[in-house]
Amino acid sequence: LPINCEPLKSLIRTVPDFPKPGILFYDITTLLKDKTGFAQLIDAMAAHYIGREVDLVLGIEARGFIFGPALAYRLNAGFVPVRKPKKLPAKTARVNYDLEYGTDALEVHLDAIQPGQRVIIVDDLLATGGTMQATVQLVRQLGGEIVGLGFAIELDFLKGREKFQEYDVLSLLHYDE
Ligand code: PRP
Ligand code: MG
Repeated sequence: LPINCEPLKSLIRTVPDFPKPGILFYDITTLLKDKTGFAQLIDAMAAHYIGREVDLVLGIEARGFIFGPALAYRLNAGFVPVRKPKKLPAKTARVNYDLEYGTDALEVHLDAIQPGQRVIIVDDLLATGGTMQATVQLVRQLGGEIVGLGFAIELDFLKGREKFQEYDVLSLLHYDE
């Protein structure tokens, strides 16, 4: 039975007008510092994947690094960091992606994923989906098999989910505004 995460919403702080006027920011730091809340969140995410043979959990810099390693440990999987440009020391694959203003890029080590390895990609938040879409491209370039895409929070009204129709998308907490 899926774990009901709805009560965890009371641990998320909403901050109006951050980082810009008109944006309502969902601040997870108040959830992370709560020992029961954090454990429940990771357990709920893990419950979705247990029994599905996961080799690697990929976390997206920076906030994906908060959840990815905890989930990997729980699933007996390895952890792979997906990083902002020029942070990884060995040979990398890079994908550029569009932001509201300008572009950004993400990189992963070329040898981080062996072809056919089964991976989950995790991040804190699904908004437009641009960040996750770039990471999906990286995993496909390296020949990884995507078992699922996991998020703590999904902003449903931005419809980022529509970019991932062929994938299993798990979001624990949903917001409609
Ligand atoms: C935030 C968030 C997600 C992404 C979601 O990351 O942590 O990674 O935006 O937005 P999207 O679905 O529209 O791509 P941000 O780039 O702000 O950086 P950070 O994780 O390093 O704080
Ligand atoms: Mg991020």
